[in-house]
Amino acid sequence: MCGIVGYVGSQSALEVVMAGLKRLEYRGYDSAGVAVLADGGLAAAKKAGKLVNLEKELGARPLPTGPTGIGHTRWATHGGPTDANAHPHLDNAGRVAVVHNGIIENFAVLRAELAERGHELSSETDTEVVAHLLAEEFSGTADLAEAMRLVCRRLEGAFTLVAVHADEPDVVVGARRNSPLVVGIGEGEAFLASDVAAFIAHTRSAVELGQDQVVELRRDGVTVTGFDGRPAEVRSYHVDWDASAAEKAGYDYFMLKEIAEQPKAVADTLLGRIDAAGSLTLDEVRIGAAELREADKVVIVACGTAFHAGLIAKYAIEHWTRIPCEVELASEFRYRDPILGPRSLVIAISQSGETMDTLMALRHAREQGSKVLAICNTNGSTIPRESDAVLYTHAGPEVAVASTKAFLTQLVACYLVALYLGQVRGTKWADEIRAVIRDLAQISGQVERVLETMEPVRALARSLADKKTVLFLGRHVGYPVALEGALKLKELAYMHAEGFAAGELKHGPIALVEEDLPVVVVVPSPRGRSVLHDKIVSNIQEIRARGARTIVIAEEGDEAVAPYADHLVRIPATPVLLQPLVATVPLQVFACELATARGNEVDQPRNLAKSVTVE
Ligand code: G6P
Repeated sequence: MCGIVGYVGSQSALEVVMAGLKRLEYRGYDSAGVAVLADGGLAAAKKAGKLVNLEKELGARPLPTGPTGIGHTRWATHGGPTDANAHPHLDNAGRVAVVHNGIIENFAVLRAELAERGHELSSETDTEVVAHLLAEEFSGTADLAEAMRLVCRRLEGAFTLVAVHADEPDVVVGARRNSPLVVGIGEGEAFLASDVAAFIAHTRSAVELGQDQVVELRRDGVTVTGFDGRPAEVRSYHVDWDASAAEKAGYDYFMLKEIAEQPKAVADTLLGRIDAAGSLTLDEVRIGAAELREADKVVIVACGTAFHAGLIAKYAIEHWTRIPCEVELASEFRYRDPILGPRSLVIAISQSGETMDTLMALRHAREQGSKVLAICNTNGSTIPRESDAVLYTHAGPEVAVASTKAFLTQLVACYLVALYLGQVRGTKWADEIRAVIRDLAQISGQVERVLETMEPVRALARSLADKKTVLFLGRHVGYPVALEGALKLKELAYMHAEGFAAGELKHGPIALVEEDLPVVVVVPSPRGRSVLHDKIVSNIQEIRARGARTIVIAEEGDEAVAPYADHLVRIPATPVLLQPLVATVPLQVFACELATARGNEVDQPRNLAKSVTVE
């Protein structure tokens, strides 16, 4: 949420920063702005709306070129998406510029104090106070990093701040509390950004910043301290993907590319999980086997799509390990005084590793003595850093705001964790685990096959472009799949879409069914738990009797359901618990095509941001 870039080096800072912002636009696109230091002064430009508006502004009124600069793309919190509220914010003398991600909770008090001291603030943001405070502190210290430390000690809330001052033209300073910020180290140049994607075209050498740290960037290196000024330990790492991974590679949208990448993402997430002896090893899991054996419950916390992965994980964890498993929205979990203790194992699922609701939930769990295992797609992000153990998904960078490939890899990771628990607790035999792993290894090819047969789904989506409502039904693991299908449609097509447990339909939602209402039904496998299959066939008949147009996602060879489908979408047969890995794919394609048909921005849906770093 909000993308930040800072640069100092020998290239044109404006060009580096603008290219970086393009990579970060997924984090927010309410407004964008830049500031560069040149000719002893500071020049800034900012514009409401997407980055393209700022590009036009810079075309009409070019900024001078200089080697030091910062930039921002905004997801609005305090103050609407206007030019005045766009970042960077400057002090009254126009010597300091600052960009910010997060919320400064005590900004009203600070603003009142500044007004008393004669400062004139011109925006409605919480950020602007920082520019004025930095200017005050700099006048005493003549050292921007020290000024930043002094200011940060007075701020409450979550923030990443990046600032420049015209009197220190070769320096960019960043500060971090809770919101993300990474450093990139190049040859005679250095970068700061919310995400490595912003500088991956220049360097793959990165440094993680910890909580409450300030970094001073110069061409010849970086200095990191705590807010208290003490030198800080930092971890360097090599980014293991390159710039091409963050390109559209010929696809019209990142989302289309990411949907197509799912077979590889699933296969990569499974890679190297079985040791030479044929048993499952998750070497990133650093919680002792004894602790896992003693766990008396599992609690999964997550938001959005990751929450749906958690709902599916519950079925596998309880079935394979017999440990009770609760799944809760992180934002609800944190503030309801949940019952946790040293024997609770908390699993936090997050693509970005930065979602504030999930982070707060995991901190609360650790305060109660629980162990936390993170399932995450972003190396070095806050959630895995603060967890006792981490299982990384290997989806590669996900840029489209609506999650697709990250979801499938979260599911794979959840199945692996469930198997791992089964292994250490002795509820699954080694050969049973191997059998599931073999089934998981088939999924990549099966997703590939689903993707090859999606043209009728796209045609159907186009034909429904003027509908107002679509309902989604499922049972067992198909229920969270239905929720995910509905979420994708809301996010992308801005349509009223709801997912229901098919058995619950008769207790209320069936009142919504009317003539020609499209209802997508995820049908459980007719094998294994066929009782579920029979029940959903009855549910389909109930809605058809009331005029619904049924769009049925069913396994190849499931003939019993065919007579009741107005549109039949075939998916390969999988074991019951693994079906979400293939059943979700047509729903992603459906939502993406419907959004395109309605003329919506697929990669950047309105009002959303990919990484939500506020509560
Ligand atoms: C935002 C995104 C969703 C995502 C959710 C959780 O709301 O728009 O697509 O599922 O955050 O994100 P996380 O990074 O924690 O998985």
